[in-house]
Amino acid sequence: MTTSPLAQLAEQTDELLATIAAFESLDALRDAEPFVVGKRSILSTLQKSLGALEPEARRDAGAQLQGARRTVETALEARRHELARAARAQALEADRLDLGDVVVGAVSVPIGVGHSSLVASTQRQLEDVFVAMGFTVSDGPEVESDWYNFEALNIPPAHPARGLWDTFYVELGEPETVVLRTHTSPTQIHLMENAVATNALPVHSVMPGRCYRRDTPDARHLATFHQIEGLVVDRGITFADLAGVIETFTRAYFGPDVESRLRPAYFPFTEPSAEFEVTCTICRGEGCRTCSNTGWIELGGCGMLDPAVLEAVGIDGDEWSGFAFGFGIDRCAQMRHQIADMRALIENDVRFLRQFS
Ligand code: DAH
Repeated sequence: MTTSPLAQLAEQTDELLATIAAFESLDALRDAEPFVVGKRSILSTLQKSLGALEPEARRDAGAQLQGARRTVETALEARRHELARAARAQALEADRLDLGDVVVGAVSVPIGVGHSSLVASTQRQLEDVFVAMGFTVSDGPEVESDWYNFEALNIPPAHPARGLWDTFYVELGEPETVVLRTHTSPTQIHLMENAVATNALPVHSVMPGRCYRRDTPDARHLATFHQIEGLVVDRGITFADLAGVIETFTRAYFGPDVESRLRPAYFPFTEPSAEFEVTCTICRGEGCRTCSNTGWIELGGCGMLDPAVLEAVGIDGDEWSGFAFGFGIDRCAQMRHQIADMRALIENDVRFLRQFS
């Protein structure tokens, strides 16, 4: 009695599966492939030996061998995928750029993460001061129509006060009808319009944001700068409320060492109006280049809402009154941190910027 050529098939298959599982790399697998499933494999040798069998036995053995081959081929493909995936992951890991470190020669130097700019953190601190006083924070567009930036603020076309704001015009619509806002005051108008439309008076809000003027930068001015606007519309508001808010703000933000004062001034949208100044912190009031030898630095303007402005937005001036103010955020930062020249804020000198992390 002859033994079947497939007598050892189960063990031989197990051996092949063990060989496959032991491949450690795609190269090793590729090199060994002819010996596992190819022409030089035991499976091919067995296949050839089936020729000597009777037809019926050959058919059975053929099917058995075919099953074993499928098992081995499936295992081989699975291992090939596994190894390929591992190789890809390894390549990715090798290529990974660690942005936390810069390698200088053989030394790895941590570069750390950045931090908010001085202006951004100042804006947040100012918001905090006003939020603590019960104000909400709002914002508005940087590109405005002439109506919001000027007319609704009681500055009609050709009004001489327009000269106070050297304006960048945007080429949209009729010439000189769309502007980059020259101050945050137009946001007051949006806010009051919304409050009227939604029946949401009174309003106590501050509105920080970026502004633009065709100014030549100098120690106290930038062409792109930031203001924080304040607006209160309520019943029975007086100038004493305005003075109290400004005094509280000055103490909270600058501390007790900085003196402030209000000086009579003119703004078309407030009556009476005042300029808000603090002692120059560069020279402590002695007079220097930063304050043009006056000893004072203007932080912004303020005043009681002009009835013409209330009328422009449809608020009844007999029932409601209010005040507004607009301070330079960059100026506040400049005075609090004794920065002699405001242009330092935009020069990107990391030795300067790092001081405010
Ligand atoms: N918008 C004015 C400016 O940029 C500052 C200002 C003055 C704002 C008086 C006000 C205000 O709200 O009442 O020159």
